Amino acid sequence: MCGIMGYVGKKQAGPVILDGLSRLEYRGYDSAGIAVRDDSGDVRIVKAAGKLKNLAEMTQNGSSLEGTCGLGHTRWATHGEPTQTNAHPHISLNEEEHSGAAVVPQVTGVHNGIIENYQELRIKLLRHGYRFYSDTDTEVLVKLVDYYYKKYKVGPIDALAKTMVRVQGSYALAVMFADYPGEIYTARKDSPMIIGVTEDETFVASDIPAILKYTQSIYYAENLEMARLIPGQAIFYDLNGDIVPKTPQIAEYSADSAEKGGYEFFMLKEIYEQPKAVRDTISAFTPDGEVDFSAEGLLPDDAKNVERLYIFACGSAYHAAVLSQYVFEELAGIPVRVEMASEFRYRAVPLEKNSLAIVISQSGETADSLAALRKAKEQVLKTLSIVNVSGSSIARESDYTLRTPAGPEIAVATTKAFSAQVIVLYLLALWIGSGKGRMDRERCREYLEEIRQIPEKIEEILSDKTKIQWLASKFSNAKEAFLIGRGIDYAVSMEGSLKVKEVSYIHSEAYAAGELKHGTISLLEKGTLVIGILTQKDLYEKTLSNLIECKARGAYIAALTGRGNSGIEETADFTMYVPETAQPFMGSLALIPLQLLGFYISIAKGLDPDKPRNLAKSVTVE
Ligand code: G6P
Repeated sequence: MCGIMGYVGKKQAGPVILDGLSRLEYRGYDSAGIAVRDDSGDVRIVKAAGKLKNLAEMTQNGSSLEGTCGLGHTRWATHGEPTQTNAHPHISLNEEEHSGAAVVPQVTGVHNGIIENYQELRIKLLRHGYRFYSDTDTEVLVKLVDYYYKKYKVGPIDALAKTMVRVQGSYALAVMFADYPGEIYTARKDSPMIIGVTEDETFVASDIPAILKYTQSIYYAENLEMARLIPGQAIFYDLNGDIVPKTPQIAEYSADSAEKGGYEFFMLKEIYEQPKAVRDTISAFTPDGEVDFSAEGLLPDDAKNVERLYIFACGSAYHAAVLSQYVFEELAGIPVRVEMASEFRYRAVPLEKNSLAIVISQSGETADSLAALRKAKEQVLKTLSIVNVSGSSIARESDYTLRTPAGPEIAVATTKAFSAQVIVLYLLALWIGSGKGRMDRERCREYLEEIRQIPEKIEEILSDKTKIQWLASKFSNAKEAFLIGRGIDYAVSMEGSLKVKEVSYIHSEAYAAGELKHGTISLLEKGTLVIGILTQKDLYEKTLSNLIECKARGAYIAALTGRGNSGIEETADFTMYVPETAQPFMGSLALIPLQLLGFYISIAKGLDPDKPRNLAKSVTVE
């Protein structure tokens, strides 16, 4: 979703802001803009529809904008088309400015989120003489700040507090006031925002990768908190205007972890980082060689007392949940209900009290997942989040947090964070299974040993990608693809299908193999690509017979299976083998070739796999 980058310090703000925005591109956007204020108080604003490179060209990479204090924004359109006029920053003047000419608006601001009552506020402001040049809720928000600032003459923090009380919705807001040169003011509710400091500079951004190059010293802005940013300092305030003491934390990411490190694309880099991500995840939760979550506050008795699991998530994280359902049932023997967060939040599902609600989210900011967490909190025993970003909203609002140490994930399509999530879920299943006496220590150790070997096996799969590249080039012009499997293999199909469709734009669908006959098989034509996933031994014959049915209708059969199943070659036109591991964990291996398939089809079609059209990395609106 939208990306915010603000700077106040000694450097020229323009180039720093554009650099930060380029590191937020992964979030998804369709227009961009920048406002820089010079020493005389003039603000220069440049905005452009489309890619950031348009803005970079119009401003000579930001250097044409004089001044050491400014705000930048990449906008993912919600209210109003992705036009130059609707792009941020927005100003409190009645007329827009986007050509770099000098203006002196009292308030200039950028915003991420949605103001739900903006129509009503717009009417109120019209009555007070304000005029609107854009269709955005952000322009309303900026003008409302201006209105309270002028009405009460109380200073920026109080004007922001009054605005926050009046607006409904979510926001990460950063504004400059004409009366306060060299300062940026921020406010936050339910939209991500971090603030970074060095000796003599202060940054505000939507995510850490934007500013990692400059500082690792980070403040996490809390909900309903405001801040005043001056060079080298951030002062936080609550809604009453009282100062909130805070110390910065050191970001756990290294400065180069958000760089491409020799790879042409982040997606490929992140696919290749999976062995490390998995290894680090295993180490994080097996401190003395056994699964142990006590550092996160979860004690063995907690495992014993859990009677049921609810898991809420969106996108790939939802697929991790679906996959884990089979693993929990098998290893822990407890009922699991998996729900898409966006569906759950508007349903009247009664939850059992003695249950643990798990929310899985790479970003920790997905609006629907956060809402599901809040809803579950009212009913269940405890909530637990699995997130990749510490300090994120979901992490902060859950009772326990298991952070996946996968490092920053930049490509929109998740790979390494997904793999790390799945490992945490395996470990949780072992922990609950042994805590409840479902499996003895020996069995638990054997499973853990299998999990420990997963990174090496992923490395092995990644070491030979030629077959997958061949398949990718053969089907790069395909109109559609079907992925089928049963049990865990069905969950793998779901995630594999998403990987293929989101970066290659091939219409791809996952089906439970047994469901094919209930309609989908009628779509098959000569040459249609059907990928069968057959890693589960007890389901192998069943899925195989479904593949034979597809072949009989002319489909091209690609099979993905464990090493021992060479008999598949009698049926399949193409076979890809993965190493074997314990059956519940095969998903971690089977998914890797499908991630590569999506990536290489995207490359074969000349697309940018890191930034698929219309998608955003972190979906902070409904
Ligand atoms: C977006 C991303 C997906 C991700 C989903 C959920 O759609 O493109 O890769 O799986 O959001 O995001 P989360 O941060 O909650 O895991």
